[in-house]
Amino acid sequence: MSAEPGLKLTSKDKVLLHLKDYWGHREDREYPAALTQKGISEMTGLRLSHVPRTLQGLVSEEFVDEKKAHVKGEKRRYKVYILTDKGVTETGRIIEDLRGQTVVVNGSYVSVGNVLDKEEATHRFRLLLRLAGEEITSLKRKPVLAGPIPGISDFVDREDELELLEQMLGDPMSKVMLVYGPQGYGTTALAAKFAHVASHQWSIGWLSVEKSLKKLRISIAKTLAALDVQGLTPEHMTDPKKLATALEGSSIVLVIDGYHEVSEEVVEYFTGLVAALRDTAGFKILVTLREDTPPYNRFYSIIDIHDGVAGEVHVRGLDLEHCRQMLGEPNIEPDAMKRLFLFTRGCPTDVKLLARGDENEMRVKSRFSPEEIKLMLFLKGQTKE
Ligand SMILES: Nc1ncnc2c1ncn2[C@@H]1O[C@H](COP(=O)(O)OP(=O)(O)O)[C@@H](O)[C@H]1O
Ligand SMILES: [Mg+2]
Repeated sequence: MSAEPGLKLTSKDKVLLHLKDYWGHREDREYPAALTQKGISEMTGLRLSHVPRTLQGLVSEEFVDEKKAHVKGEKRRYKVYILTDKGVTETGRIIEDLRGQTVVVNGSYVSVGNVLDKEEATHRFRLLLRLAGEEITSLKRKPVLAGPIPGISDFVDREDELELLEQMLGDPMSKVMLVYGPQGYGTTALAAKFAHVASHQWSIGWLSVEKSLKKLRISIAKTLAALDVQGLTPEHMTDPKKLATALEGSSIVLVIDGYHEVSEEVVEYFTGLVAALRDTAGFKILVTLREDTPPYNRFYSIIDIHDGVAGEVHVRGLDLEHCRQMLGEPNIEPDAMKRLFLFTRGCPTDVKLLARGDENEMRVKSRFSPEEIKLMLFLKGQTKE
């Protein structure tokens, strides 16, 4: 077996994770010895001479508080170390990171997230240390892509939108990514681009929204099966809570494309899923929605936004420079370009049609009148010499 290193834990990770296991003792009158330097050394396997340096770093980053206190079974007071709120958050981030990794236990791949969920999670760190042990070989997670993800070869711009999405992806609190845009402005394209970027770390399942709940469930089940998620039953499909729990720590982003007009039962299903995702981690959804999605079809609340569980990105027209780039006419006369920009309003669908320059196709597919189309094609041919 190739000797890939086990789960990588830095000494900082180890100490934080260990202290998190003892977080429940922060208000004890006598502290467990595990919170002293010696205890930390014994429990983490870090050399005693190494521990003070690590702790010093953590104290100065305000992840850990140091104080002198009574320790169980000891007469004199010792320095003990307790996580601060900031330290708890940081530890959550580390765990979130680790959850996404896959290790091999007894010859089969398991996600660290699933192991943490199955065992009593009160002593996560010891469990993680076991997973990091030498007898266990860890692999970098192999993310999987499943479903009809559109290609992205000619994709331009959307830097800000992509950055927002990446922030949400990296934020353990954030579970529901919402990409809004008017029809034809590129929500699907943006989601596809993002899916390709995210797929370095996350598995991506892609499906189109369905108006009927029955079809939607089947589509979700198929997509998850294609991602090789094991052990899902029809019950998981009917109960979003069960589904969210089963997918905890799976590092899957389920992209659901094209939300607009759906049935009431689909709205309810999504509402239930968002509620369930509040309590789980390591599984997210990304939904693309038409900007004019009616209010009665909304499936999340302002509170979800406020809490950072859900986040919105709004796609608008491309700017002039990127329209020019899409048009493929770098030498176009600036005034002509400006006028085309005003015609198309930066809508990528229009710009793409214009780039192809097929008058008949434009007549069939675009909202422009035959005269406008003639004018636009004429402007496109105006190049500076
Ligand atoms: N940023 C972009 N760069 C290049 N092409 C784009 C971009 N955004 C959208 N498109 C193209 O414009 C068309 C409409 O985009 P699409 O994502 O399907 O719109 P929506 O899903 O919002 O209705 C597609 O042909 C798509 O490839
Ligand atoms: Mg679309």
